[in-house]
Amino acid sequence: MTVRVAPSLLSCDLAHLADEIASVAAGGADLLHLDVMDGVFVPNLTFGPILCAAARRCTTLPLDVHLMVERPEPLIEPFVRAGANRIAVHAETVAHLHRTLSVIRDLGATPGVALNPLTPLAVLDELWREVGFVLVMTVNPGFGGQRFITTMTDKLARLDRLRRERGPGVEIAVDGGVEEGNAAALRALGVDVLVAGTAVFGAPDRARAIAQLRGEVG
Ligand code: DX5
Ligand code: ZN
Repeated sequence: MTVRVAPSLLSCDLAHLADEIASVAAGGADLLHLDVMDGVFVPNLTFGPILCAAARRCTTLPLDVHLMVERPEPLIEPFVRAGANRIAVHAETVAHLHRTLSVIRDLGATPGVALNPLTPLAVLDELWREVGFVLVMTVNPGFGGQRFITTMTDKLARLDRLRRERGPGVEIAVDGGVEEGNAAALRALGVDVLVAGTAVFGAPDRARAIAQLRGEVG
């Protein structure tokens, strides 16, 4: 199956949110990625359910919410009410992952687990039946425009092998430093969703940038 591309609104011009969303939707985006940061788990502060609801009013694309937040539990229902279709919580932030993932699913959204670059895959051992997707961070979360940590390709290869054995329906998403230069390697590693901020919103031709990430143009 073709890889799906999720432009990250972190890199868009928030002063023109509707136009920015329209441009990537017209350019073939499959999902929209929303980076929610609390200034505690990560050293940056972004947006909450109000912006998610605003994005919801601009598009029918699925909204993919990435919670980089300590104790994300109270935010889950507000984000679903604001139109989130997929919600990832960081394994490093949640004490009772089984409960939290069940809550996301019961509210009708797809639950995901995000892993910091050095968080071991072992945390997934008991989780395969509970998650819809694993969001592998290939930068230290907090900012757009960082460089892809190249040692993460080994982690992704191991994750793909594990997924084939333990959770064939579970998607793998990659977030951080994704660009044309590494997209082919990521696609070859079995990645299902490429999250990309700078590579899409920073490109002069966003449709072309999205097509390049999918491997549809050279
Ligand atoms: C980083 C965020 C990413 C970020 C990616 O903490 O989770 O989603 O927007 O931005 P780029 O693609 O510029 O690395
Ligand atoms: Zn993200």
